[in-house]
Order: sequence, then C-alpha cells, then structure tokens
Amino acid sequence: MIDLSNIEPLRKSQNYSIFNHPQNPGALLKVRTDKPKNRLIKRYSEFRYGNLRQWSREANEYLAAMNRGCSEIRRLAGFLGYAVTSKGPALVVEKMTAPGGGLAPTLAQELAAAPQGSARRAELLQELAELLDDLDRGRIIVGDISTQNIVRAQERDGKLVVIDGLGERVLLPLTLISDRAFRLQSARRRKRMLV
Ligand SMILES: Nc1ncnc2c1ncn2[C@@H]1O[C@H](COP(=O)(O)OP(=O)(O)OP(=O)(O)O)[C@@H](O)[C@H]1O
Ligand SMILES: [Mg+2]
Repeated sequence: MIDLSNIEPLRKSQNYSIFNHPQNPGALLKVRTDKPKNRLIKRYSEFRYGNLRQWSREANEYLAAMNRGCSEIRRLAGFLGYAVTSKGPALVVEKMTAPGGGLAPTLAQELAAAPQGSARRAELLQELAELLDDLDRGRIIVGDISTQNIVRAQERDGKLVVIDGLGERVLLPLTLISDRAFRLQSARRRKRMLV
C-alpha cells in the first residue's frame, strides 16, 4: 500500500485529492474523495464497484484505444493503473506538466484569460477543434468533455490533452455501437464548445 499520510495533495477537486506519486515522478495518484450514494436499488455495476464504477469505463475506453493502435491516444493522459493507498483507492495517471514543472494549465484557465473576440481566443478554439478532430479520428469517446478536463502538456510538445472524462457514462452507450450516434454527439459537442 502506498503511504500518503505525510504527503499534502497538490490539488483537491470535486471528486479527487490529487497527489504526486511518491515512487514515480511522472505519475499522479488521484484518490477518490466523494462518498458513494446510498441508493436502495442499485444497478449491478454500482453494487459491484460502488463509486469506483466510473473507473472501469475509463480504463475500458483507454484499453479499446490501445487495441486499435490509434496514434490519437497521445491526446489522452496515460492511464497507468490503479493503486491502493492509505487514503483509499487511487487512479494512477501520467502527470501532465507546465513548462515550470507544475501541473499543466487547463484550457478553461487559458480561455478565461483570453477575452471574447481576441486573436488568442480564436487560436485556442482552433486548437480545441483540432483536439476534437483527433479524438473523432481515433474514435475515442470522451463522455464528459469540458475545458476543465483538457490541459496543455509539455509531455505532448505543448499540445492539448484530455485528463478526465474518458468513456461513455450512459446506461446504453449508443455512441459505442452506432456510427450515426457517434457523429451526432460529436456535432453537438462542437456546437457547444467552439464558441
Ligand atoms: N493527469 C493529470 N495531469 C495534470 N493535471 C491533472 C491530471 N489529472 C487531473 N489534473 C488536475 O486536477 C484537476 C481535477 O482533476 P479531474 O478533472 O480528474 O477531477 P474532477 O474531480 O473531475 O475535477 P473537476 O470536477 O474539476 O473536473 C484537473 O482540472 C487538472 O487541473
Ligand atoms: Mg474533471
């Protein structure tokens, strides 16, 4: 078990406390901090995996991309596995960094600093469009794509990378089986995000 009792989290988010991996400088540990909902009737996967359910979907999507051997997998932060820690179950992921060495800035932060109508904003949206193109080309499904789940990573020569939200989050993942559903989702997303 990895002992995190003497390590301060780098960041706390809605669902996670995020730590430097004590043995692997290129990795982060994301420890879940949300509490499982106590629903009377649970679907099977909820019964089996509790609030870790989402992790199997994320890992599955990553695995599927690996199996296809698509080069677009470089648009994702590496998925390195799971770890048992003193603070509970953790995801192990590739650490995306800024030139200074700190955590990579999110696209949300960069957009917030680029006023409506500025050349910088147009540039950022163009980069986002290219990221979405790559994900579509690789057939990589990011169910929960948002500018907070995208960062600019040194590890990818300063390109945009998805760090969270991989996989489809619905009960019946139509986008996995239907080309049309996949394209519809992609079009809707572009309309929403590229403004
Ligand atoms: N692999 C990574 N490399 C660098 N930074 C990361 C990585 N994973 C997460 N982060 C940072 O931690 C923040 C929260 O991570 P994540 O999005 O996975 O958790 P979350 O609980 O879904 O947070 P939120 O609800 O804010 O999206 C990210 O916005 C990002 O700044
Ligand atoms: Mg997130």
